[in-house]
Amino acid sequence: MMSLCSKLFILFSSISLVTSQHSSLDHFLQCLPLHSNPSNPIANAIHTPNNASFQHLYELHAVNLRILSSPSKSKPLAIITARHASHAQAAVVCAKRSGVQLRIRSGGHDYEGLSYTSDVPFVVLDMFNLRSIKIDIVSETAWIQAGATTGELYYQIAEKSDVHGFPSGICTTLGIGGHFSGGGYGNMMRKYGLSIDNVVDVRLIDVDGTIRNRKTMGEDVFWAIRGGGGTSFGIILSWKIKLVRVPRKVTVFNVQRTLDQGATDLAYRWQQIAPKMSKDLFIRLQPEPISDATNGNKTIRVSFIGQFLGRARRLIQETDSKFQELDLQLSDCNEMSWVESTLFWAGYPNGTSIDTLLQRVQDNKVFFKTKSDFYKKVIPKQGLEMLWELLMEIGNVFMQLNPHGGRMEEISESETAVAQRAGYLFKTQYTIHWTESEGGIGAADGYVEMSRRLYSAMARYASSNPREAFLNYRDLDIGSNGSNDTDFAVARVYGAKYFNQHFLRLTRVKAMVDPDNFFKNEQSIPPLPSY
Ligand SMILES: Cc1cc2nc3c(=O)[nH]c(=O)nc-3n(C[C@H](O)[C@H](O)[C@H](O)COP(=O)(O)OP(=O)(O)OC[C@H]3O[C@@H](n4cnc5c(N)ncnc54)[C@H](O)[C@@H]3O)c2cc1C
Ligand SMILES: *[C@@H]1O[C@H](CO)[C@@H](O)[C@H](O)[C@H]1NC(C)=O
Ligand SMILES: *[C@@H]1O[C@H](CO)[C@@H](O)[C@H](O)[C@H]1NC(C)=O
Ligand SMILES: *[C@@H]1O[C@H](CO)[C@@H](O)[C@H](O)[C@H]1NC(C)=O
Ligand SMILES: *[C@@H]1O[C@H](CO)[C@@H](O)[C@H](O)[C@H]1NC(C)=O
Ligand SMILES: *[C@@H]1O[C@H](CO)[C@@H](O)[C@H](O)[C@H]1NC(C)=O
Repeated sequence: MMSLCSKLFILFSSISLVTSQHSSLDHFLQCLPLHSNPSNPIANAIHTPNNASFQHLYELHAVNLRILSSPSKSKPLAIITARHASHAQAAVVCAKRSGVQLRIRSGGHDYEGLSYTSDVPFVVLDMFNLRSIKIDIVSETAWIQAGATTGELYYQIAEKSDVHGFPSGICTTLGIGGHFSGGGYGNMMRKYGLSIDNVVDVRLIDVDGTIRNRKTMGEDVFWAIRGGGGTSFGIILSWKIKLVRVPRKVTVFNVQRTLDQGATDLAYRWQQIAPKMSKDLFIRLQPEPISDATNGNKTIRVSFIGQFLGRARRLIQETDSKFQELDLQLSDCNEMSWVESTLFWAGYPNGTSIDTLLQRVQDNKVFFKTKSDFYKKVIPKQGLEMLWELLMEIGNVFMQLNPHGGRMEEISESETAVAQRAGYLFKTQYTIHWTESEGGIGAADGYVEMSRRLYSAMARYASSNPREAFLNYRDLDIGSNGSNDTDFAVARVYGAKYFNQHFLRLTRVKAMVDPDNFFKNEQSIPPLPSY
């Protein structure tokens, strides 16, 4: 299966030492021990370019080679690998006092690398050592620290129970810290909503370095960090989640059709039916250009990758009655435990040990540029045909169309900061990916330009006014304003695309808790100006 979780590449990158700004760095480094608990010494958590560990650590959780190897991106003055909450608290207090910017990284999957790059002098607070997961099956809840990955969460749930799961992302190396606060969708979205719909409490470090929970932060902040991006409001230390029930056996399939095999008609039909089928069924549509095995000609292969929370026979009844055209057969179906299905979705072959879920880092990085859309209307057949032509022309590209509907229709849009609830058929990502041998960083501008062409070609079909985008698929093209400079007029543009009607409420919450805009990046939420 084509996924970024399963791509090969060897990393080339050099760290250029930042020599300026020594005084604020020195100030920051001297401040840290004074503001952390001496019973948990912070010295071993501090890495500057002088430490041999620095470069390896910098690259370890940085997923996109387009960002990592870009010569125009500067590197942090220091990386703080917090081993204790007090280290993260000290990083906030000291960054504020010494005027260095703080970037927060959990799993490093940010599509634009905002967790590990900045245009102004900055330090990275790296959360990957804070990754404990405490599951209580009796109350069906768990506390998960920000640095844990989705794979670790799935593994640990399965160790305790074979009838529980959690609705989160499909890639198993995502950091819980970033992933949840941008919403977090996965293949149980139609049954249980997003990750944040199943979050019941949180521990967050605020701008003063104080740890707050749901009660002490208040419902406004708790609302904002569920979908508004944690990074504008503080540092997520841990989330408390409510586990969901899954059957002992779920069914997965991956049925593929090329253009000759009627892919266009099927993709057209999928748009109409996938958001309306049983909540237990999630079928992702994944078109990509390939060369036809029989004649070498270019074609489009559309994968219908599905998950059903139940046995195969019941799944076939559902598809036969509602999506006959797919012609799903029992022999296409694979029954397995829920935890095994997480490996299937991450692209691992049948029979892969579930210990693989504990591999925290992708060793197969690629260069990529992704853009996203939400769709409220069906793309007509001629639109699909235009799209296929463009995909074949681009070559190194795949799309994922993820159906909404089901539970997503039921959750009120005011419940969390996620605006895209009822009335959306599916969300899409367009990903152009390439390797060093396909041009590496030198080819980045050309590939990014192609992604913009594709995006503008789809404008007439996607949601509009505003044309919406998914925060977890971060895209700086939709508007951004430099690392240090959150201009309200600019923020309003990307803010409306990500958060639609919720943008203003988010800026009011921001004004309440971080009026000086300490927690910021190129697409953060600015405080509502007081005129
Ligand atoms: C291969 C791949 C597959 C993906 N699949 C899915 C998917 O199935 N579903 C989905 O919803 N998304 C998916 N994503 C997107 C992913 O959810 C986002 O990139 C998410 O932000 C990643 O979180 P992270 O902690 O790994 O990344 P980071 O790069 O560490 O962080 C992302 C953002 O969150 C901020 N942040 C990180 N940690 C914290 C914290 N502790 N407190 C406050 N702010 C923090 C960062 O500063 C940054 O702005 C995928 C991404 C990739 C690369
Ligand atoms: C990095 O180097 C400094 C100065 O030599 C040292 O105090 C610190 O402990 C080192 N960090 C790590 C993680 O070893
Ligand atoms: C390959 O495509 C060309 C152009 O569309 C067509 O003429 C040719 O018949 C195709 N080859 C096969 C073997 O189908
Ligand atoms: C997957 O593996 C199981 C047992 O490990 C086997 O029964 C099943 O047939 C396999 N499925 C496929 C599609 O290979
Ligand atoms: C931010 O936006 C404002 C208003 O458009 C502009 O004047 C300023 O130059 C921008 N700053 C950066 C760093 O892009
Ligand atoms: C960043 O912004 C702050 C004020 O918000 C200012 O004091 C500082 O000089 C700016 N730094 C750079 C490098 O622009």
